[in-house]
Amino acid sequence: METIKIDLRKERGKINKELHSHFIEFLGGCIYDGLWVGEASEIPNYEGLRKDAVDALKKLEPPVIRWPGGCYADTYHWRNGIGPGEQRPVTYNENFGTYEKDSNQFGTHEFMRLCELVGAKPWLNINMMTGSPAEMRDWMEYCNREEPTALALERKANGAEKPFGVEFWGIGNEVWAGGGNMTPQSYANEYRKYASSFPNFISLENGGKPRVAMKRIASGPDGNKPKERVEWTKQFFEELGKFRRPALDGYDLHFYNWNLDNPEQKENEFDEKEWDQVIADCFELEDVILEQAELIRKGIDALPEEEGYFKTPKPACDLIVGEWGNWHGAAFYNRPALYQQCTMRDAITTALTLDIFHRNCETVKMACVAQTVNVLNSLILTDGADCILTPNYDVFEMYKVHREGTALETARPEDEKLHIFASVKGEDVYINLINADMTREKEVPLSFSSPMEFVSGQALECADPHDCNTKEEPDKIRAGESGTPERTEDGFIVKLKPASIQVLHFTVQK
Ligand code: AHR
Repeated sequence: METIKIDLRKERGKINKELHSHFIEFLGGCIYDGLWVGEASEIPNYEGLRKDAVDALKKLEPPVIRWPGGCYADTYHWRNGIGPGEQRPVTYNENFGTYEKDSNQFGTHEFMRLCELVGAKPWLNINMMTGSPAEMRDWMEYCNREEPTALALERKANGAEKPFGVEFWGIGNEVWAGGGNMTPQSYANEYRKYASSFPNFISLENGGKPRVAMKRIASGPDGNKPKERVEWTKQFFEELGKFRRPALDGYDLHFYNWNLDNPEQKENEFDEKEWDQVIADCFELEDVILEQAELIRKGIDALPEEEGYFKTPKPACDLIVGEWGNWHGAAFYNRPALYQQCTMRDAITTALTLDIFHRNCETVKMACVAQTVNVLNSLILTDGADCILTPNYDVFEMYKVHREGTALETARPEDEKLHIFASVKGEDVYINLINADMTREKEVPLSFSSPMEFVSGQALECADPHDCNTKEEPDKIRAGESGTPERTEDGFIVKLKPASIQVLHFTVQK
């Protein structure tokens, strides 16, 4: 095959670590059993948060975790989840077929503790459907107020002396469907009210600056609806352009890689054609990102300049992918709700999707995998005392090296089943090589624009692409050291097993 040339001078932009963020909600077993077992549980825990899952997540250093939803946020009232556990009301969770009582034991403080333990920033999504701007504002006050107001004192009484300093706030979730069946116009008008109700947390003691710079993240379109998503974004910005506009910092697009043609097929039962189809379909997200970024740019350009004094500057609105992942038909039949096993097919689409974000790091600034535990494209699966890491977990771990690096331009290989991404940090280059071919090995000749030497590598491989990690065989697919690439006159040759991923580290030759 042709030699893949890595040119260290062809820089594309900085890779925000927030592209490796997470999404969790009370849906199926994501929160209860997945992350929260309660202090009285026999399962080892940190103040109720299961130790095995927390320790695994801590290793990944998730930059941001989004909670409480998702659709769950659309009916979530934050007050139900604060105060002594035994006094919290029991509600009922109908979210995506969860159909379980909700003890509300995992609330704001438990979420903040999780974030603190794993080193993530929190993203809170407010309830725009059954909530109100007043309820949202109170939650902000409770979380972020330093001055001793009634809500800040209540937070202190509940154990958090210092404000949580929550920066990211989602205003509504999928407002075009479960979040209210809104139109772009009705949402834009609701958004105005909510976005304008934010407290600013300006403090005179802090030199008249806000103590926490809160970001307003609007609900973006349904990435899976090609016509609707275009109209949604166009019309949302048109509506915002009428008269004075509210602040807007982020636009949250959701995209799932639907695999629903054969809804009763298990997630680990597929032939090569079905393997290829799921892999090919994950690339639609790249087109959606480019299309939406262009629509946002045009929408903002077309916003009228305001007249007179006190003009609001045009927003610098980041494109965010707040939910992404494979969604196999079996998830609708599995219990707990939306539970999915993950095979090497999911690991490969996870890697390819993260590389879409890396390549487009100038365009997309944050992305959250849906979801971290026990739901859809999970990294962790639990069942009572058992906790296993899926191969998707290994991909996130292997890919950490790219965070805050600079993405490099790499040519698309002629072989459509081979995918390459490279980033550079000082003298170090990290290269992802994905062999998306289910049955054939590949030999990839690599060359660099300047002399490099191989440092180390990791490989994620499988004996059979249908394999997955189970409680009986928790490490059936686990990343290990890659082989050393063969040296050639002008570079290296890397050997890739079928259905495999490698992340290789090279450095400038001394
Ligand atoms: O991730 C599962 C669900 O998918 C989320 O609750 C919702 O936002 C989306 O439709």
